Amino acid sequence: MAGVLDPQLKRALAERVRYYNELGIYDFYRREPAEACLSAMQDAVIQPEEREEMTPRAKTATVVPETDRLEVANARAESAVTDPTQALRLIREDIGDCTRCRLSKQGRKQIVFGVGNPKAELMFIGEAPGADEDQQGEPFVGRAGQLLNNMIKAMGLRREDVYIANIIKCRPPGNRTPERDECETCSPFLMRQIAAIKPKAIVALGAVASKTLLAINAPMSEFRGRWFDFRGTKLAVTYHPAFLLRDPRQKKETWKDLQMVMKELGLAIPAKGVE
Ligand code: URA
Repeated sequence: MAGVLDPQLKRALAERVRYYNELGIYDFYRREPAEACLSAMQDAVIQPEEREEMTPRAKTATVVPETDRLEVANARAESAVTDPTQALRLIREDIGDCTRCRLSKQGRKQIVFGVGNPKAELMFIGEAPGADEDQQGEPFVGRAGQLLNNMIKAMGLRREDVYIANIIKCRPPGNRTPERDECETCSPFLMRQIAAIKPKAIVALGAVASKTLLAINAPMSEFRGRWFDFRGTKLAVTYHPAFLLRDPRQKKETWKDLQMVMKELGLAIPAKGVE
């Protein structure tokens, strides 16, 4: 027999469901509380490039991130500020020398906040900092970052033109997949960064970023080649550069994704693709 819900919890759940309904999410699926950021099928030790094409357990099941509770609970220091540079500074200050999750005690050197143009029309969102990023305090500065730079260049843009961030801001030990509670704690700050920058388009890099942002558990093949609405901003999905380093044949596919984005942003499309 089903247990009786505590009235306070029931109210909170109803509120949450209403919130997701407003976002256009109507199907909810139960999952185990200790699951990682996106879904249980993401094994903690699998590298980003290996995660990319894995078949999810429950295809197209909508998973509900807990991030928004925290986001709502957070006083937004930047709410009265219109200048995105200042807003980002306030968000960074709010993060401080963060100890909100276990990653602060698991060897991270520094917080990797995000980099680029605070007024960028285009934002790239990856998964989590790796060793190079942890060392330098900037997202995508390692080998995957070099490839991301090439992707940006192929679009006729410079790294300084766009804004680059990750779902979480601290390096998970051994580059493991971020845990669900780490995402819940950290991604509200990313939401605030997006709200401050107000990009015209977001490109989610790889499965972890896509599934976490969209709260949809689906394979990359279902994400790519179309636009999603992310809180009023257009969001496209493409392969993670780390995956492309492992499987360069997919650069051709990535170039198709990027061309879709360029079209949306009114950028001229050169003949040459991603190298
Ligand atoms: N991979 C990511 O997802 N983000 C980085 O910043 C670097 C590598």
